[in-house]
Amino acid sequence: MSDLTQTARRTVLAAGAAAVAGGALTACGGGDGGKASQGEQGAATPPASPAGSAPAAGGAKTIAKAADVPVGGGKILKEEKVVITQPTAGSFRCFTAVCPHQGCLVTKVADGTIDCACHNSEFKDTDGAVVKGPATKGLAEKKIKVAADGNITLV
Ligand code: FES
Repeated sequence: MSDLTQTARRTVLAAGAAAVAGGALTACGGGDGGKASQGEQGAATPPASPAGSAPAAGGAKTIAKAADVPVGGGKILKEEKVVITQPTAGSFRCFTAVCPHQGCLVTKVADGTIDCACHNSEFKDTDGAVVKGPATKGLAEKKIKVAADGNITLV
């Protein structure tokens, strides 16, 4: 009886060890497969990055359309922190929209000036120069390109 019991225990232990080994093998196999798969995904992810490849493939990002910039006025792009003006038809200029006085974003383009509402500084819409303080420095110019289709991009 005791021999049978011991045999039964050995069988159970052997089955348990096989199950553990099998489990370990399965885990290793799955782990290796997972690692290989992750490695491939990791290597493939950077080139497939939509943020990185889309602007590169299509060139510079369009920030505005020429038609959106009124003649004698301008368009303030808060996200890009730039202001695009069109002092005369077909002549586009672009400046930082960050006021050099204390860093507010300019708020309006009208009557030949780009205005900052924080302390009422005004800048020329043609070259960004100070028209009225307290700002003592003009708005830095940004280079843009206006494509034939009217798309405006930062250069
Ligand atoms: Fe623009 Fe002061 S921050 S005038």
